[in-house]
Amino acid sequence: MKTEPSSVSRNDPCWCGSGKKYKKCHWGKDRLKAVMPARPQPKPRPRQDPRKVRLKTPEQVEGIRQSCQLTKKILDDLTPFVREGITTNAIDQFVHEMTLDHGAQPAPLGYRGFPKSVCTSLNHVICHGIPDETVLREGDIINIDVTCILDGYFGDASRMYQIGTVAEPAQRLIEVTRECLEIGIRSVKPFGMTGDIGHAIQRHAEAHGYSVVREFAGHGVGIEFHEAPQILHYGEPGTGVLIQPGMVFTIEPMINMGRADSKILKDKWTAVTVDGSLSAQWEHTLCVTESGVDVLSA
Ligand code: MF3
Ligand code: CO
Ligand code: CO
Repeated sequence: MKTEPSSVSRNDPCWCGSGKKYKKCHWGKDRLKAVMPARPQPKPRPRQDPRKVRLKTPEQVEGIRQSCQLTKKILDDLTPFVREGITTNAIDQFVHEMTLDHGAQPAPLGYRGFPKSVCTSLNHVICHGIPDETVLREGDIINIDVTCILDGYFGDASRMYQIGTVAEPAQRLIEVTRECLEIGIRSVKPFGMTGDIGHAIQRHAEAHGYSVVREFAGHGVGIEFHEAPQILHYGEPGTGVLIQPGMVFTIEPMINMGRADSKILKDKWTAVTVDGSLSAQWEHTLCVTESGVDVLSA
């Protein structure tokens, strides 16, 4: 689905008369306007302490699952598309259009002022990279983080993609980070504690000489983008919040090859490693059941 006025193509001069190309000028803002009115208005619901964990009903879980399955499909379809020579803006456009084509909305667009429909975090970018005209090059590694809103339900997942042939150490970082997510998922036990998850992830990452980013965490998700509880990717077993059936949250470890320290760029979003080392991340949304865990975005 196209959201721009059909008379103006992205490479034409902008309609505002600035002399800049449309895509460099009002394109993003026009797209925002095109999408925002379609956003479901927040349903009036009883005031709730934002720190309080919201247990989901079976019906809500099924809605979140549908949203997560669309997110998964977008991540699948990106695989052949993400290759050398394309820009991160092209990834944004792909995700934006595919999301709308399936009757959903891209949750990042307009979220706390985020300007695009997806996060693209390249090489030393930890998370929240903003798509732009950067061209992907052989050897790059990139995290693409997709969140759909389908029927009012949020589905959040991300993966790493490799551009052409990637150096061995970067491949290893990607693989170990994926293992961190798997180990994190396996450590989710009904009536266990969220600290058990972080501890298992930290142990695995540090055993490989990597470090765990502290400034960003997994989160409750489903009715809103970011809900309680926080799921830290480090910590001590037996600490944190009680894990209960009906909880829906993400696990999304960000693992650095070098030091754990991060900083935010002037754009107020892009988080990068302070030492310039590579960073990787994988994310799933999951639901806690009576007997274990159901990965909704798998
Ligand atoms: N999808 C990210 C997460 O996993 C959040 C992105 S917020 C945005 O929590 F505004 F940058 F999109
Ligand atoms: Co998330
Ligand atoms: Co995400």
